[in-house]
Amino acid sequence: MTEQALKELLDSMTLEEKVGQLVQCNAGQFIANQLEITGPGGELLPAEELCRVMGSVLTFEDAKQAKALQDMHLAADPKKIPLLLMLDVIHGLRTTYPIPLAMGCSFDDDLVAECADMARKESAACGVHVTFNPMVDTARDARWGRILETNSEEPLINGRMGAALVKATQGRDLSDPENIACCVKHFAAYGAGEAGRDYNAVDVSERMLRETYLPAYKACLDAGARLIMPSFNALNGIPSVANKTLMNRILREEWGFDGVVISDYDAVGELVTHGVAADAKDAARLAMEAGCDIDMVKNAYYLHLAELVREGKISEETVDAAVMRVLRLKNELGLFENPYHGADEKAEEELYLCPAHREIARRAAEESAVLLKNECILPFRKSIKKIALIGPFAEETRLNGFWSRPGAEKYTVTIPEGIRALLPDAELLIQKGCGAEFGDTDTEGIPAAVRAAEEAEAVILVLGEPENYSGEGRSRAELNLPGPQMELARAVLQVNRNTAAVLFNGRPLVLTELAESAPAILEMWYPGTEAGNALARLLWGDANPCGRLSAGMPRSVGQYPMPYNRTNTGRPKPPPDDRPAPFSSCYLDMPNLPLYSFGYGLSYTDFQYERLTTDRKTIHKNEELKVTVTVRNTGKRAGKETVQLYLQDPVASVVRPIQQLIDYRKVFLEPGESKNVCFTIREQQLRFFDFTAHEVSEAGEFRVSTGYADHLILTESFILAD
Ligand code: GLC
Repeated sequence: MTEQALKELLDSMTLEEKVGQLVQCNAGQFIANQLEITGPGGELLPAEELCRVMGSVLTFEDAKQAKALQDMHLAADPKKIPLLLMLDVIHGLRTTYPIPLAMGCSFDDDLVAECADMARKESAACGVHVTFNPMVDTARDARWGRILETNSEEPLINGRMGAALVKATQGRDLSDPENIACCVKHFAAYGAGEAGRDYNAVDVSERMLRETYLPAYKACLDAGARLIMPSFNALNGIPSVANKTLMNRILREEWGFDGVVISDYDAVGELVTHGVAADAKDAARLAMEAGCDIDMVKNAYYLHLAELVREGKISEETVDAAVMRVLRLKNELGLFENPYHGADEKAEEELYLCPAHREIARRAAEESAVLLKNECILPFRKSIKKIALIGPFAEETRLNGFWSRPGAEKYTVTIPEGIRALLPDAELLIQKGCGAEFGDTDTEGIPAAVRAAEEAEAVILVLGEPENYSGEGRSRAELNLPGPQMELARAVLQVNRNTAAVLFNGRPLVLTELAESAPAILEMWYPGTEAGNALARLLWGDANPCGRLSAGMPRSVGQYPMPYNRTNTGRPKPPPDDRPAPFSSCYLDMPNLPLYSFGYGLSYTDFQYERLTTDRKTIHKNEELKVTVTVRNTGKRAGKETVQLYLQDPVASVVRPIQQLIDYRKVFLEPGESKNVCFTIREQQLRFFDFTAHEVSEAGEFRVSTGYADHLILTESFILAD
């Protein structure tokens, strides 16, 4: 439709029909023909009326349902305005790839795009128009259960990977039935909740907000994301969905975003619970004034928006502007001409879990795994045949992560299946040993596990936290391995040192004791459908681990918050880190540094960083600095290395990080091969937010280094001249 036709459609709509376009219901309420839909106060809503006027639904299952929903609505809507169908496709629809935190450890934007492209195809066939993805909240506290959903503690990675996902998902033309729109979330600073508790208050300076929490959302909008979702949390005292500074001033005026803003699930109604709205009607007013277009479920808009307009408390122009943004999005998706978009049952059958998609998922699982320790245990020799597979996750199928689609566990390749596929004549001695839930104390299974370990040539000790221990509403105050897992580990490690510990978890955990006792540790995160195949290939060396931590791993939960890009303070702790230093910024009972630092990870080969050079010593603001890092594979196996470039601005008008990642590049090297990895530094990368929260760069000395956080090497200086 043309813009003029859209305007004519808008003018033909009643106020109730306009409001309906700003209402999103749960598809389940209609799929099962449930006629009971509750409002924010629990009152029943007339389902037929909602079905006639509503603008969008979320959470449906497949192409068949998608078409049924569209048919049901269009039959009831006299204006024949098609529904928007939205779904959380975070890391795969039916073929599940690793959780975003794991993908962050791949340090491979192209791999993120490849996975997103695969998910796009499956989602379009399922009938999805909009995915609530990417989530790019900067997360620096693993107590927060949703750290699994973001790529990194570093906004540069979140922005680059988020933008790569948006481009791969939206393609060039949203009217192409194979492309779907992205809704970036959760705007803003949701990951900075007090005490690591989900939904909790966030209070950060505007300087910190702009420097650490906003850039990744902006990168995704710059990549073309057509929707954005305000976060549940209060930000500096005002919940995001009613936060005019965030939504009107920054998002609409400063950034010029003209897409759709959709609230999070009942976030509008929750303004009452936050205590900034007296009732649902007041909440609807506040959210609409702040520029929230669609009210996700619970329907505060449905119940009160028309009334607010009639009372003159909200102008109809404001409502019209929101409705036009929704109609334009539907038009961009081509829904007026093709309401089904890409829904196609035949395509579903062809695409879901197809070999090509499984290969992508398996490769992603291999590239996002992080080898944390290896005292010559891994890779296992192929001649090893008698293997003890011990631990609560030894035969687990739920290795996909909180936001995998319901039923994903039915398709997971388990660890035994993966090992047997690689080593058909392997003899597996499988013992669960113990549970992994809070409160599990039963250790009766440990003796049998120990016996299996005694008999075996090698032991795979599979530990972690259950899939539902991370994700939304899943914050933890402790980050230990739940249940008697360490008791099991101690017993097994005593009888067989040829043991590799393998971890499945959705957040950095405290592994301090395991790191002291296990000779090898491989972090798998939640690797998705191809878990077993990827793990077997990694353990026996068909794949060489190349993941690097995209979030540091603490020695203790007491170290949080512990951003890698910390400032020096006036009393930095002098080395060594393993004991306190009086009157310095340290702990009496714990080192400062994480157990494993941001950017850390091992390989089955070795990489030698030979030199770092710059093409000049001084640049002006309109010039570029070329930095070349020479890295060599000095080991016996081919492998991939992530070359990281860190910046330090030793003197500035505000304190600056001692190490700030400003670029990264993954390179493949054959044994003995060396490569020059070239980076370009521009003035924009030297900028920061000054005391008045304005973005500036300041002339003076800068230092560039490579290596990884807390282990910088080959540092060179250069000058930015006025
Ligand atoms: C949830 C999440 C959000 C998700 C939405 C729809 O509460 O916060 O990330 O997209 O609801 O499921």
